[in-house]
Amino acid sequence: MENERYSYIALRNAENTLAEDVRQGLTASGKWLPCKYFYNREGNALFEQISELPEYYLTRTETAILKSHAASIIERCPSDLALVELGSGSSTKIRYLIDSCLTRQRALTYYAVDISPTGLENGTRQLLHDYPCLQVVGVVAEFGDGLRYLASGASGPRLVAFLGSTIGNFTAKEIAGFFTMLRRHLHPTDRLLLGVDLIKDPAVLEAAYDDAQGITANFNLNILVRLNRELSANFDPAAFRHRAVWNQEGGRIEMHLVSLRHQRVRIADLDLDIELRQGETIHTENCHKYSREQMQSLLADHGFQVLGCFSDPQDQFCLFLAS
Ligand code: AVI
Repeated sequence: MENERYSYIALRNAENTLAEDVRQGLTASGKWLPCKYFYNREGNALFEQISELPEYYLTRTETAILKSHAASIIERCPSDLALVELGSGSSTKIRYLIDSCLTRQRALTYYAVDISPTGLENGTRQLLHDYPCLQVVGVVAEFGDGLRYLASGASGPRLVAFLGSTIGNFTAKEIAGFFTMLRRHLHPTDRLLLGVDLIKDPAVLEAAYDDAQGITANFNLNILVRLNRELSANFDPAAFRHRAVWNQEGGRIEMHLVSLRHQRVRIADLDLDIELRQGETIHTENCHKYSREQMQSLLADHGFQVLGCFSDPQDQFCLFLAS
């Protein structure tokens, strides 16, 4: 993108690990695939559609919270702030924070960190057009690499936004690693804004991940199409069914692809044949939900001090501001 207010850096091609990850996941006794591989061009487009579904309350609820509380959030942050968004996607929600920042400072730098170059470019192009005093740095990277890069470069206080309940896709170990890494790279004047989906009626949760139009099913199945294209596999997506189920003990929605028949799949680039029994599943995603107290104590356990919690009137979703 040609613009003197835009700079771009690609730190590492995250796709490099696809082959390795797929071999590991599909040869395990319980088959699984990392959910980060949902997000290719088609997956990003499907996720955009998911975020507008009537059943998928997360995006519109978080957006409404930001709309109502962006000013209070920014008020609790130091002045001359820079914004960092981890997993920036279409950069829609960040607008409320940009608007609030620009009521008290004349210029602003926004660091958009995303694993997908296409998502990142589409999102930031419109921002540059809409905000003449915005400087945008696009960082194509996994979160850890992105943060490490920002720690070495950006100076001054930053608000690091990690929105959309992406933290819900992490295991407990990954959360510990993520918070530890944040603490290592953030300064005392920096702030963290964390979007967390709260525990609620399992029927509401299951509908959010298994919508009537079947968009989430296509999003899930798209990972197989991706493996066909990028690893010369021969998955027949029609031989799998999308399943989203609430796991009470784990406090999470699990997404699986259920094999509809006994089948053998060839992944030519890995020189690998895998067998799936009828009913066997490939576990593709975990979406953990938290109570306010659970997340507060997780943050405290990792040395964060919660400065505010902002939620919607129905208490569906919560934004935690922490230092
Ligand atoms: C990106 N992530 C927070 C979404 C979620 O709700 O866990 C991904 C998603 N999977 C199915 N629908 C949406």
